[in-house]
Amino acid sequence: MLTGGGDCPGLNAVIRAVVKSAVGRGWEVFGFEDGFFGVVEPIPPIPLGFDEVRGILDRGGTILGTSNKANPFRYPRRNGDSWVEEDRSDEVIERLRRLGFDALICIGGDGTLQIAHGLAKKGLPVVGCPKTIDNDLSDTDVTFGFDTARSTATEAVGRLHTTAESHDRVMLLEVMGRTAGHLALHAAIAGGANAVLIPEIPYEVEPLVRMVRERAKAGQSFSIIVVAEGAAPKGGAPSVAESETATPGRGVVRLGGAGRVAADLLAERITEHEIRVTVLGHLARGGTPTAYDRLLGSRFGCRAVELVEDGVFDHMVALKGSEIEAVPLSHASKTRLVDADGELVRFGRQLGLTFGDEAEG
Ligand code: F6P
Repeated sequence: MLTGGGDCPGLNAVIRAVVKSAVGRGWEVFGFEDGFFGVVEPIPPIPLGFDEVRGILDRGGTILGTSNKANPFRYPRRNGDSWVEEDRSDEVIERLRRLGFDALICIGGDGTLQIAHGLAKKGLPVVGCPKTIDNDLSDTDVTFGFDTARSTATEAVGRLHTTAESHDRVMLLEVMGRTAGHLALHAAIAGGANAVLIPEIPYEVEPLVRMVRERAKAGQSFSIIVVAEGAAPKGGAPSVAESETATPGRGVVRLGGAGRVAADLLAERITEHEIRVTVLGHLARGGTPTAYDRLLGSRFGCRAVELVEDGVFDHMVALKGSEIEAVPLSHASKTRLVDADGELVRFGRQLGLTFGDEAEG
């Protein structure tokens, strides 16, 4: 098994569940370190038994380590001063066969699941398990990690309320969500924010200015605006860069842009309030998983082992309604965005949330 992509609360619950249910069947389980790096590089996989997973259920992160820069189909190799990418997928398949593995369980987001599907098409027996705090994978109702991130972001909105109110300020909270605004929207509703800006609804500044002034007129001289990192003004580009090449050790610092852009636009129009921006960033990914994420991760892990047992490969586990089902990995990379005409946006408006779009006149 391996964990790939950004870490997420609940990964250790999956790892523990896979180990407990597989070892309980008399199987041997090994973990590869740092996502697909551990599969491509000649690093011996770690034997995982009950001792290795004891006490990890409530720990954030992943005991196996992870990486989002190790795609075996586009694997980075240093070439002088630069990096080139090469396809090492055949080597991976050969290595796993040589090591005698019967199956590979890949726990990750859309990138990891696409790689898993690519390896499955080449004949590797692969089972996928979806994770992301963004909750933007189309073939599962919920991904584990989202509930924890949502709780942390909601708490942050609540904390901003008291300080915003004390200083009569407009406070913007930027949360993760490069392409999808689920985290921002849920936290805005659950935290009782006054506006939310999401990638799916390009915003204009005037409705926000109106909201701030109307609130002040009604005696509420502070406002809280939740901003997803991928939100952009109408006609403007998002301020987050796509993850660049598979260059190890080179990060792009991309958080903080969307909140600052919105704050600067507001500052051009609003001079009667001070404006402050807080970036929640990776805090939403860290810490102990909620009971919901521990449970969902545990269910995913057990079901993944059942799929291996039944020989159902090139599939991932997914929550459908109240059941954990198997869905083809070929669907796994489809993104589920917030439906701008959907129920939650409609209810958000009814609850007084401003989205900064035409619907607000
Ligand atoms: O994919 C999950 C996510 O949380 C995105 O919302 C965000 O853009 C990204 O991870 C940031 O990841 P990192 O900075 O760790 O590479």
